[in-house]
Amino acid sequence: MILETIEVGGCRSYIIGCPETHVAAVIDPEISAIERYRGLASRHGLALRYAIDTHTHADHFSAAREISRALNAQVVMSHLSVAPYVDLRLDDGDLLLIGNLRLQAIATPGHTADSTTLLVAGHAFTGDTLLIGGTGRTDLPTGDPEQLYDSLFGRLLKLDPATEIHPAHEYKGRTGSTIGEEIASNPRLQKTDRAEFVAMMRSLDIKAPTHLTEALRVNMSGKKSVAQLLAEASGATPFMAMTELSNRIAARQNNLVILDVREKDAFDLGHLPGAMHLPRGQLELRINEAFPDPTVRIVTICELGKISTLAAATLRSLGFMHAAALDGGMKSWREAGLAIET
Ligand SMILES: [Fe+2]
Repeated sequence: MILETIEVGGCRSYIIGCPETHVAAVIDPEISAIERYRGLASRHGLALRYAIDTHTHADHFSAAREISRALNAQVVMSHLSVAPYVDLRLDDGDLLLIGNLRLQAIATPGHTADSTTLLVAGHAFTGDTLLIGGTGRTDLPTGDPEQLYDSLFGRLLKLDPATEIHPAHEYKGRTGSTIGEEIASNPRLQKTDRAEFVAMMRSLDIKAPTHLTEALRVNMSGKKSVAQLLAEASGATPFMAMTELSNRIAARQNNLVILDVREKDAFDLGHLPGAMHLPRGQLELRINEAFPDPTVRIVTICELGKISTLAAATLRSLGFMHAAALDGGMKSWREAGLAIET
């Protein structure tokens, strides 16, 4: 079996491939690593046919849907996962054929209700059920310490002790653990009594992951994160450098409109010379009266350069094909000491 481990922060994802048929799957793909998955797959001559999430992640954005769209791969999850974009839902014990590899789904609820461990060729991809020297937490939505106890002591720890484990998280860079090593040394697994284990899990006071609600929202719906929305907007519009705009203002080139999309109080405190004011919130509804000429050259500006990017992308989508966003915002414009009028 071809096996690649990809680290993004503390998150781990994996590519597993069949060396005979060149069919492959990516396990727990993360949104920022899509190009790495593609690169690794092509380096091994593999076709990514499956994007598998071991559970609904609350701490990072799954790339399963993007991979399925880009590569025509199937999104695979537990039958208990609520995401509407899943193509193939696995029940406990189901086998997924990845070329000549046989990947078995083992329902291991506890960290989340839909947590599934994937067992293939002596390797267990344990998601957040069993970590190296730890276990997943049980205090996030659908988590249940009683179920985690059953999944660990009733299922995973009964696998062949030589089974290599590959978790969805590892924060200390450790690799190469087995079920046997975890039984022997994982501190949480030393609490073999159900009541003691459950009490320990309930007493853990771990801070909520960053992006908790956003990651859940995106992973459960298959819709966009704010960062994705902004990335799409900046891919859909050109930008103008601050020095370029400053030079044009100095040369009194009046063939472009500087459109300030901040709120009125911010605009009144200081804006670019000659800037026109139309807040982002009113852009679409006032666009026809503001810009009767669709060929007008518009450069949008806001405080930090994000809202102006969304505004320029909106203008482009409405047919203003010469709209651009300032590369930067009022904040960097002020810091650069460029001309401002009040
Ligand atoms: Fe998780």
